[in-house]
Amino acid sequence: MKVTTTTESRLSTIDFNNLGFGAGLSDHIFMCEYKNGSWGEGIIQPYGSLKQGLGLHALHYGQAVFEGQKAYRQEDGSIAIFRPERNWERLNKSGARMLIPEVPKELFMEGLMELIRLDAEWVPRGANTALYLRPFLFSSSEFVAARPSEEYTFAIVTSPVGELYTKPVKVKIEQHFTRAAQGGVGYAKAAGNYGGAFLATRKAVEEGFQQVLWTDHADHAYLEEAGTMNVAFVVDGTLLTPALSDRILEGITRESILVLAKEWGIPVEERRISVEEIVSAAREGRLEEAFGMGTAAVVSPIDGLGYIGEILPVPAPSEGLAMRVKAALADIRYGRSADHHGWMTKI
Ligand SMILES: Cc1ncc(COP(=O)(O)O)c(C=O)c1O
Repeated sequence: MKVTTTTESRLSTIDFNNLGFGAGLSDHIFMCEYKNGSWGEGIIQPYGSLKQGLGLHALHYGQAVFEGQKAYRQEDGSIAIFRPERNWERLNKSGARMLIPEVPKELFMEGLMELIRLDAEWVPRGANTALYLRPFLFSSSEFVAARPSEEYTFAIVTSPVGELYTKPVKVKIEQHFTRAAQGGVGYAKAAGNYGGAFLATRKAVEEGFQQVLWTDHADHAYLEEAGTMNVAFVVDGTLLTPALSDRILEGITRESILVLAKEWGIPVEERRISVEEIVSAAREGRLEEAFGMGTAAVVSPIDGLGYIGEILPVPAPSEGLAMRVKAALADIRYGRSADHHGWMTKI
């Protein structure tokens, strides 16, 4: 791997005591190009511009997928990443849907490891902070014709982050817009899924919500996911979460939380969950908790559901399941409790 280090670090421009989300990008990037049917040598270089022109295929046809994961500062000062091989697998699952060639595991892992080693000082030390890792994969030929690209670029940028939501969120049960349709690309972390969600999210924010709670494409009768989080409900002591489908992103936080909940003996149901079921449970006081699960938001309690002009309050107990899983995940991620599941990869 060819490594060129920066001569002008931007580290001192970051206020590590006030990290929001997306405060700034770290000094270095990893990049590797796919040409003539194979991947070249990975390089690490200072953050900077692309060399391609405006014919860049990804800008026109959106053959682009990405990942989101985090590296955590451990109690002992070392650094570890949470389940990086799951993100590698999902990147290639997304890529396969968009006809993008597979990124070899060694390329992904070595790129990630070397980059974090080099920018280790960018991994924050404050409570609930992390270095957000953004591997991405895009079509990088230059032409305008609606056919797949011949060349691709795999790159990684990183950014120190704090918590995405510091308070419980209100989500709007979406009854008009659709994020994903059956047979579509909803299960892929495809760039366009996010661009396509911005308008609905903007409208929800204007109405006083933080996020959209997406419903199914056919008749908006079943709950799917909450913005960039998978969603869970606690009804009558059971943890309910929508079953995965080709319209839902298979969240690694969701998967990990289900493992913990099952180990704790909490009944878990992965199945279709109707809007009607959750709205009735909320009205009848049987909805004990609702929360979002995702890398950026970690575990985000939901304290209100917007439903056709009404806001149904949802309890967000400080000692509930959401807070219990949040604490347990944090203890594993920051190296405060034993990693029985082998989820952490040390740098
Ligand atoms: C649409 C969507 N759903 C769910 C998630 C949660 O996935 P993960 O837990 O792997 O971050 C994300 C975030 O990556 C997302 O963008």
